[in-house]
Amino acid sequence: MGDNSVKTELEHQKAIMEELKDILYLRAGNKQPVAFVRTYGCQQNVADSEKIKGMLEEMGCALTEDKNEADIIIFNTCAVREHAEDRVFGNVGQLKELKKKKPSLLIGLCGCMMEQEHIAKKIQKSFPYVGLVFGTHVIHKFPELIYNAVTGGKRLIERGYDDGQVYENLPLHRDGSFKGWLPIMYGCDNFCTYCIVPHVRGRERSRRRNSVISEARSMVSAGYKDITLLGQNVNSYGKGLDEGVDFADLLQQVADIDGDFWVRFMTSHPKDASKKLIDTIAANDKICNHLHLPFQCGSNRVLKHMNRRYTREKYLEIANYAKSMIPDLSLTSDVIVGFPGETYEEFCETLELIKEVKFTSLFTFIYSPRVGTPAAKMPDPVSHEEKARWMGELLKLQESIAAERCAGMVGKTYRVLIEEQAREGVLNARTQNNIIVELQGPQELIGSFCYAEITEARNWILRGKITDL
Ligand code: SAH
Ligand code: SF4
Ligand code: F3S
Repeated sequence: MGDNSVKTELEHQKAIMEELKDILYLRAGNKQPVAFVRTYGCQQNVADSEKIKGMLEEMGCALTEDKNEADIIIFNTCAVREHAEDRVFGNVGQLKELKKKKPSLLIGLCGCMMEQEHIAKKIQKSFPYVGLVFGTHVIHKFPELIYNAVTGGKRLIERGYDDGQVYENLPLHRDGSFKGWLPIMYGCDNFCTYCIVPHVRGRERSRRRNSVISEARSMVSAGYKDITLLGQNVNSYGKGLDEGVDFADLLQQVADIDGDFWVRFMTSHPKDASKKLIDTIAANDKICNHLHLPFQCGSNRVLKHMNRRYTREKYLEIANYAKSMIPDLSLTSDVIVGFPGETYEEFCETLELIKEVKFTSLFTFIYSPRVGTPAAKMPDPVSHEEKARWMGELLKLQESIAAERCAGMVGKTYRVLIEEQAREGVLNARTQNNIIVELQGPQELIGSFCYAEITEARNWILRGKITDL
């Protein structure tokens, strides 16, 4: 399918959204229809939900935070770990009562879970009141899916189809007014052996440089101050585009846009995090001094079985280079504890790596087997209780590292972005390197930059005072 057929497809969806305005209005009992969208999982899903919300608005819907008043409920789901899936099933179960009270309620499930055959089957069998199921590859067809679901009178399941296209210019309802997500690529080709993402998100495809830059420009002119470039592995941006632009180039070009804003990105895969990327961050004030570089495990044997395609030594080399080039760098990471066959000695190599790098914060996960992935078939003799004990050890270590790091910030002054009210009279602000600071100040400052001196560190919570606006 070429650019022209993508355009025709989108025009087709646009016409359907127009038609749906009246249909949904009537269906809601001659009033404005109300839609509730709940998002599970990562920022990629958050960004997809912003498109779904944008399209719902184009169909005439108002968005609500209260599912009791909704005419349409959409759950955008995550499949990355069993716990994420269990939460979705629990919450879908609770919708049964709502559907009973309001038979016209349309319940739709989408996102990564829906791209798994066994999950779609389970929903079909166990949740008869779910009227619409669709996968990650057909979000651009959402209007048509809603149309068919409300006019067809039968359950609709649309999934398992990846046309490899990037659909630009879908309507968008951004959740934030000064912090925003900007997807630069979709899918993943890495096939880490534990991970479901490549199976549910399809092959890697990058957005064109022009599309990314023009969206970034419009965000800056709309007042966005903190823009996060998104992709499962941003370091492979541009492959297959023939534009001669790699991720470091793209980042530089976003930072070159006129205006007072920060740009950050996630996630970087260590196997192709380049020195060029680090040098680009180091050379540019607008690019945040924050690098999320998941190492997953400190043992080379386990890394090999994970198919991560780097060694502990290679990881340390790039992490140390980044620390040496970027003052105040915040390094964060993801870690998996208890990969099949991992021994306690190998887990201790993870602890050693954490001690050496001194991460600002860690996202830690106990390994969760995913249907259809190679790791799920590997022997996994260590009990969950034992893995939980290892995890406890890791968390204790990380807490002390984070506390030490925060203590080291006391007395220094940082530029921060004020994000939200924490409680009466207290604001939460974020430093460029992604650390939260509590400040006293009026709500009017939310969404603006200021300078703050750090006055106190309690474990890993920082307090500070505004010194300049
Ligand atoms: N693309 C990103 C990660 C996306 S998934 C990257 O490669 O860094 C986010 C995190 O979830 C992963 O980094 C990993 O730590 C964790 N994860 C993924 N699959 C998992 C599984 N089966 N069990 C436990 N944690 C998992
Ligand atoms: Fe999953 Fe690996 Fe792809 Fe990340 S890089 S999404 S962990 S397969
Ligand atoms: Fe979950 Fe899908 Fe993201 S599986 S972590 S929502 S890409």
